[in-house]
Amino acid sequence: MTQAPLYILGIDTSCDDTGVGIVELSASGSVQVRANRIWTQAVHAQYGGVMPELASREHVERIDGVMADALAEAGLKVSDIGAVAATSGPGLVGALLVGLMYGKGLAQALDVPFFAAHHLEGHIFAAASEDNLQAPYLALVVSGGHTHLFDVPEEGKYILVGATRDDAAGEAFDKIARLAGLGYPGGPAIAEAALRGNPDAVPFKEPLQGQKAFEFSFSGLKTAALLAHKAGAKPEDLAASFQRAAVHVLVKTTRRAAEAYGRQTVVVSGGVAANTALREAFNQTDLHVVFPGKGLNTDNGAMIALAGAAALRAGRAPSPLAAGATAYAPLANG
Ligand SMILES: Nc1ncnc2c1ncn2[C@@H]1O[C@H](COP(=O)(O)OP(=O)(O)OP(=O)(O)O)[C@@H](O)[C@H]1O
Ligand SMILES: [Mg+2]
Repeated sequence: MTQAPLYILGIDTSCDDTGVGIVELSASGSVQVRANRIWTQAVHAQYGGVMPELASREHVERIDGVMADALAEAGLKVSDIGAVAATSGPGLVGALLVGLMYGKGLAQALDVPFFAAHHLEGHIFAAASEDNLQAPYLALVVSGGHTHLFDVPEEGKYILVGATRDDAAGEAFDKIARLAGLGYPGGPAIAEAALRGNPDAVPFKEPLQGQKAFEFSFSGLKTAALLAHKAGAKPEDLAASFQRAAVHVLVKTTRRAAEAYGRQTVVVSGGVAANTALREAFNQTDLHVVFPGKGLNTDNGAMIALAGAAALRAGRAPSPLAAGATAYAPLANG
């Protein structure tokens, strides 16, 4: 690190949100989010899912404006930026390339270090940075594309503890919401409808009950929801019953893993971490559970800036400007 404080600009265009965030890294190594601007693409709602080519085009159209908004929010000029980070994977390659190329161009023009960031590491840092948390901890990434549990014994080391065998939790929220006619994205729609529903109305069998491992499965819940819907279950009852079943299994499996790995602290991040029922259930355990702050659950640029800050703090070498985008990029490295 050359000067302090250092402002790091982060970009995430891995899916359907154009995100630019700025964090401040102080001389003591603590980080603070200074700006977090997200343009959520509405164009996909009519299809009930993300259309990759449309996502890429919209990133191209929006990224300049989102960056200008982020700089204004932070009260900074572009020349104040001391490092740039952008998501290189996993995600939709065409969409990733927009933010990655933009970030590299910016870093080159400013003559500052560039870091290619891992999207899931960003999600984890979004929560971990809440109280400048340091490893060791257990991390549950629960999002639209992932339901992955990692043990993080030291900074930068990720051991895969368990993952979903089929759908991600967020995907199940989205698909069940669509089925029940509750709208898109499904997570917030299910959470809202669940407030008016009866969680005992639809019986859901606990997935992988009795397993010794730490895996997840949501396809059985999805099928059960489909059958209940065909049998005439009310959307709000379906929402309340499914949400309770999903929350139960996420908390139970994570709780078991924390015990097996001897971790007291658990980081829960990704879009589904915004779910109030999930937060309440985790807060009722004996674990120290850390969630991302407001606006940092779903995809955003600030979490990528936080990943850049962590790389700088750890003294990692900047990424080569030849770093490419990768659709499939496992985080586990231990
Ligand atoms: N309040 C909520 N309750 C449950 N799920 C939610 C809530 N808010 C958002 N979600 C879900 O979070 C998901 C989006 O999260 P996120 O943006 O982190 O995922 P993603 O970027 O699509 O996937 P990944 O990060 O795995 O590539 C969607 O599936 C959405 O339904
Ligand atoms: Mg994400």
